[in-house]
Amino acid sequence: MWGDLLPIGRDRATGGYRRSPFGSAERECAAWYLEEAERRHLDVATDGQGNAVAWWRPPEPADRLAASSRGDSPRGILVGSHLDSVDNGGAYDGPLGIVSSFAAIDRLRERGVVPSRPVGVALFVEEEGSRFGVACLGSRLATGVISPDEAGRLRDREGTYLVDAMSAAGHEPRLGRSSLLDDVEAFVELHVEQGRDLVDRGRAVAVASTSWAHGRWRFDFTGEPNHAGATRMEDRHDPMLTYAMTALAANKQARLSGTRATFGRVAVEPNATNAIPERVSAWLDARGEDARAVASLVDAVTRQGEERAGRDGTALDVTEESASPTVAFDAALARRLAQILDEAPVIATGAGHDAGILQLAGIRSAMLFVRNPTGISHSPEESASMDDCLEGVEALTTALEALAT
Ligand code: GLV
Ligand code: MN
Ligand code: MN
Repeated sequence: MWGDLLPIGRDRATGGYRRSPFGSAERECAAWYLEEAERRHLDVATDGQGNAVAWWRPPEPADRLAASSRGDSPRGILVGSHLDSVDNGGAYDGPLGIVSSFAAIDRLRERGVVPSRPVGVALFVEEEGSRFGVACLGSRLATGVISPDEAGRLRDREGTYLVDAMSAAGHEPRLGRSSLLDDVEAFVELHVEQGRDLVDRGRAVAVASTSWAHGRWRFDFTGEPNHAGATRMEDRHDPMLTYAMTALAANKQARLSGTRATFGRVAVEPNATNAIPERVSAWLDARGEDARAVASLVDAVTRQGEERAGRDGTALDVTEESASPTVAFDAALARRLAQILDEAPVIATGAGHDAGILQLAGIRSAMLFVRNPTGISHSPEESASMDDCLEGVEALTTALEALAT
């Protein structure tokens, strides 16, 4: 599976991946997913928005057939993840969960295990929020956590509306919640670890406890465009300067409060070397243990940015683009998985995941993390050894056997 998947959307120069949602590389990945599902005779359901579930529905014994004709067939166990990437991301963030899910089904079949509930491999679209700015957009749509109205207003950097991007990719969107996840009892998402916790613990696999609160805010700094050579330093109203001081303040504030603040994306108008800019837009990714910590971080950064704007003669306008609360994954499920996986460590994560959205939407969810020797993610340096990946497959197989038989 990796042999087929690894060349898709790979940047030859950096070795990173560019699998923007509804773009050609992501569509190729989705086609690969459909082929893998078909190869295994899985029954694929889609929601017209790019999300899909490939179901393994084992033949039902006579007594259960009677029950399902009464309408009480067992609800399914979902595994899976996403195939899109951040711009120049790693190979494993997302795909490791999908590859491991197909492999876990193969392992169960090799062992002759027949589940007593359906097992589904989920594919969630636009998990990274790299194109439309909202993290976990696919699972938010599938669960109804984002409203069709709000989603309908989303546009990418070129101004393309979400529905148009979906249609251009061959989907038939009717934005919002569908029946795709109606028959799901629980979700287990396997994911590459995005830190060094497992390296430090000397373990290959962990179970997730919580996922930090996080959100994205757009900071628009406006000033007075002018000549880089002819304008005296004391006469300038330079929004780049206000932005730079705000980025320093965000870093300091996050260090002081034990939170995380990142300005990873900046757009400058007109973006000319010899002109003081008119506008700098910068996106703050803010995260913390709980929503209150994130809110006070963003408040403090906004306040300091505004003070600085006052001194620079510029203006600052802050817009929230998305926010997610802390997610506590299903504690009983996490405990059970940790126990059947050799007392696997139970660890928190600063990253956001589709499993967090499903948990918030009322579907019992858990996550398994596979050790990443570099501890680096959202970068070509992201890594996982084949031995650890195989241990992850075994862990997911064990989890499925416990939950679905
Ligand atoms: C997704 O990987 C995120 O946490 O931004
Ligand atoms: Mn991911
Ligand atoms: Mn990611």
